Amino acid sequence: KIMRIIIILAMLMGVTGSPNGTIRPQAASADTMAHPNCIPEAADKTEKVRKNVMATGELNPNHYPARRAAQVVQHYLNTRYGSPFRLIGVQKVHSANDVADSGRKYQLELSVKETISNTTENCSAELFFPRGVEQHSPKVQASCEALLKIDTKAQEEALYQEYKRNQSLVSAQNLPDSHGRIAPDMEPFWQLGILASSFIMLNESNENTLYNVAQVANITQLATEDDQLKFDCHTLLHDMVSQEIIHWKLLFTWSPPEGVKVLQMEKLPHRHEQEEPPNTN
Ligand SMILES: *[C@@H]1O[C@H](CO)[C@@H](O)[C@H](O)[C@H]1NC(C)=O
Ligand SMILES: *[C@@H]1O[C@H](CO)[C@@H](O)[C@H](O)[C@H]1NC(C)=O
Ligand SMILES: *[C@@H]1O[C@H](CO)[C@@H](O)[C@H](O)[C@H]1NC(C)=O
Ligand SMILES: *[C@@H]1O[C@H](CO)[C@@H](O)[C@H](O)[C@H]1NC(C)=O
Ligand SMILES: *[C@@H]1O[C@H](CO)[C@@H](O)[C@H](O)[C@H]1NC(C)=O
Ligand SMILES: *[C@@H]1O[C@H](CO)[C@@H](O)[C@H](O)[C@H]1NC(C)=O
Repeated sequence: KIMRIIIILAMLMGVTGSPNGTIRPQAASADTMAHPNCIPEAADKTEKVRKNVMATGELNPNHYPARRAAQVVQHYLNTRYGSPFRLIGVQKVHSANDVADSGRKYQLELSVKETISNTTENCSAELFFPRGVEQHSPKVQASCEALLKIDTKAQEEALYQEYKRNQSLVSAQNLPDSHGRIAPDMEPFWQLGILASSFIMLNESNENTLYNVAQVANITQLATEDDQLKFDCHTLLHDMVSQEIIHWKLLFTWSPPEGVKVLQMEKLPHRHEQEEPPNTN
């Protein structure tokens, strides 16, 4: 059931061609989406071969190391440019290079797509995975300024006013539901859940992860005294490499001028629907 949601979600995120009908993944995501179960093995083998053959150099943009790096850039772009009306997905990786350094540095040329306006833009990005015993989050630099030209101010202001003024607080579950459906008036909250999760996914990513939001299990608006909208949210993140579903609880605020700010995050213990993570080393 979760896999079904994940595949549907990929469609909603715009990595597939058709917004409604059969699953028809495109380009870079085709392999990852169509056969999620064969990833860990295939990906690891590819990577091991590559590591032995060449320490640095050009990567196949369709292979997992490039794909995983691109996914981190996607999370970064959503933390930076995302809004309840602006959600960014990587559409295609055009080229990828890795450069040996004190950690591992990737240089990517990619096209990203804003899913609501259906605009595509090319961007360059550089990301760096620090090496070390401690888990450090990757450092990303990317500039896709054209994404900011998609004007969502009026919609954001309208959403803000509607939910700031209303006496009753919004609450929603299962975005999307097991049929992949999201009520249109709940879509901005689904996107807010994804944006808040992007901060976690960015922070938690390393060279061996590929995170997506499987589902915003629930999101509840909380009363506030200040000028932010505040939400309690429970999201299910899917790591395509380990095939784990990871539950996180989040407390975050949003307002049009401030964007999403994560106040608290908590990784919840494993649940019954998960398998133990395979020992990847
Ligand atoms: C999807 O949309 C196409 C037209 O864009 C339509 O022909 C098709 O029946 C739709 N499929 C579903 C499952 O709604
Ligand atoms: C999005 O834009 C592409 C290219 O301009 C077009 O082929 C596609 O049909 C559009 N999709 C939707 C859902 O409007
Ligand atoms: C993005 O770059 C690719 C490859 O360099 C090119 O084929 C494509 O036309 C570019 N797209 C845009 C929107 O500039
Ligand atoms: C206030 O919230 C209620 C319940 O969610 C909803 O039915 C109503 O349309 C909202 N009113 C406004 C002005 O948004
Ligand atoms: C990122 O993770 C570190 C620990 O790995 C934690 O201390 C920090 O608060 C996290 N920050 C964000 C924004 O997720
Ligand atoms: C939110 O969803 C999670 C996962 O399905 C569930 O365990 C939790 O009880 C839900 N919380 C609320 C407040 O609905």
